[in-house]
This record gives sequence, C-alpha cells and structure tokens, in this order.
Amino acid sequence: MKTLWGKPVAEAVYLQLEEESARFIKSTNHVPHLAVVLVGSDPASSSYVEMKEKACDRLGFDHATYRFDESVSEATLLSLLSKLNDDPVVDGILVQLPLPDHLDTTKILDTISPQKDVDGFHPINVGNLLLGNPSLVPCTPLGILKMLEYYEIETSGKHVVVVGRSHIVGKPIAALLFQKGWDATVTICHSKTQNLRDITSLADILIVAIGKPLFITPDYVKEGAVIIDVGINRVEDAGRSRGYRLVGDVDYERVAPKTTAITPVPGGVGVMTVAMLMNNTLQAAKKGRNEAEILA
Ligand code: GUN
Repeated sequence: MKTLWGKPVAEAVYLQLEEESARFIKSTNHVPHLAVVLVGSDPASSSYVEMKEKACDRLGFDHATYRFDESVSEATLLSLLSKLNDDPVVDGILVQLPLPDHLDTTKILDTISPQKDVDGFHPINVGNLLLGNPSLVPCTPLGILKMLEYYEIETSGKHVVVVGRSHIVGKPIAALLFQKGWDATVTICHSKTQNLRDITSLADILIVAIGKPLFITPDYVKEGAVIIDVGINRVEDAGRSRGYRLVGDVDYERVAPKTTAITPVPGGVGVMTVAMLMNNTLQAAKKGRNEAEILA
C-alpha cells in the first residue's frame, strides 16, 4: 500500500509556477493578482482564505481579500464583483463558499467574469469542461488529476466511482475523467444511490467527496483499489489543544491495508487545491494579457 502524499506534488507545481510566473512578469510587467471575497467568520473558510493568501505571497502574486459581515447584502457583493470584473489589475476572482443562506450563491458566482473565474464554477467554464475544451477547471479536481499523473496511476479503461455530486468536486472530476486522454469509465453515486456498497466495491479508483467523516469502511472497497479521499472534516478531539482533528470521508486506518494506494487526510488532496488555484490565477493572468495584447 502506497500513501499518496500531496506535498511533493504541490511542491512540483509551485516550482513550475515560480518559473512560469517569473517569465510572465518579466515579459508583461504585470504581477498576477487574485481577489478573494470572504463573507462571515466560519473558521474553516477563514483558514482556507489565509492559506490562499500565503500561497500568493510565496509566488509573489498580488492579492486582496474583501471581508464582509455575515449580514452583507447581495447588492453589495454584486457591485464589488462587477468592479473587480472591470479592473484590469485583477486577474482572478474567488468567492469563498459556503455563503450564508440569504445570499443567492448561483447568482453571485455567475456574476464573476468567466475569464477571471479561477474556481471554474461559471456555467461557461463548466460547459467548456464538459465539452472537453477546459480553460479554468475547478481547483480540487485539477489537483486530483495532478496527483494521478504524478503517481502514474493509469485511468484509461479503469472504472472510476465518484461518491458525491457537488459542483466543486463530484461533477467536475467525473466530467474530466471520462474525457479523451483520461479515458475512464465513470460512475457517479450520491445520497440517493441504492446499494452504494455494491457499486463502490466495483471501483478500480474510488473518489470520495461527501463530507461525512470516516464514512467509507473496508466493506465499500475492492481489494487493490486506489482511493482518493477529498473529505476534510473537523471532528471533536478533546486530546488536541485546538479541540478537534481533521479526518477524511474514508476510514483511512481500516481501509488503507486493502488498497494499492490511498490519499491521507490531512496531507493528501487538500494540499493540492491551493496550488491549483495559483495555477489558475497565473493562467487567467496569461490569457488576459495575451488578449489585451491582441486587442492593442
Ligand atoms: N469552499 C470549499 N472549497 C472551495 C473551493 O474550491 N472554492 C471556493 N470558492 N470555496 C470553497
């Protein structure tokens, strides 16, 4: 059994981005710029945003975080997003999710210009992904692809079972893996799937993104499968000074011996997401500059 750590993969991505962004900045005199919108004070969201800021600092990208109280109006956010869309200094815009219930998440995400949509959540980007012409691809699925590549995990002709149908992970990773080049046979399962265990037990590669701590136990897994655990769940742990620990959607301790390879939590896919956001920010900046040059 091999543990698929995210860190060496993320480091390889950062090294490549450092080179690529240095070249880009030199030739355009423009520094990639990421704008992040954070509503409320959810500790997990705040900590993710901090990680994104640190990653920008590491690569020398400019960044600005727009923080709002939980009660912020939709109009205020829409007006900020339009300003960011029109601001030539800004290359990437990200609205940290989840948003409070009184805000229409779809309306807000759809307001972000597709060219600056570094999360890849805009319908134009989702459509292009499904068509196999991806431009900006959601960060976590992109991170999973990088890990599969890095660890030389063959997907062609393999049965990939995705558990979870979220816009952020389940749908896009499924839509990527059945494209030409990856060539997997993909099954998507969700909360209403009957006989879930029978289906997951057929998976050569099992990708789990449901947000339920330790849900996948050995009886869900085929002997020799590869497991990608996307869950990051906080569970109470009085033994830790911060009062909680992080666990995945997969019961790693019990499942790992049955697998060929498995991602740990923490230290697996989670590490990749921010690295891929940096990748998307640079790609958006490059595309924006090229287009600006063509139009000039
Ligand atoms: N919340 C959890 N994951 C994500 C993500 O990938 N992007 C955004 N914007 N919010 C998130």
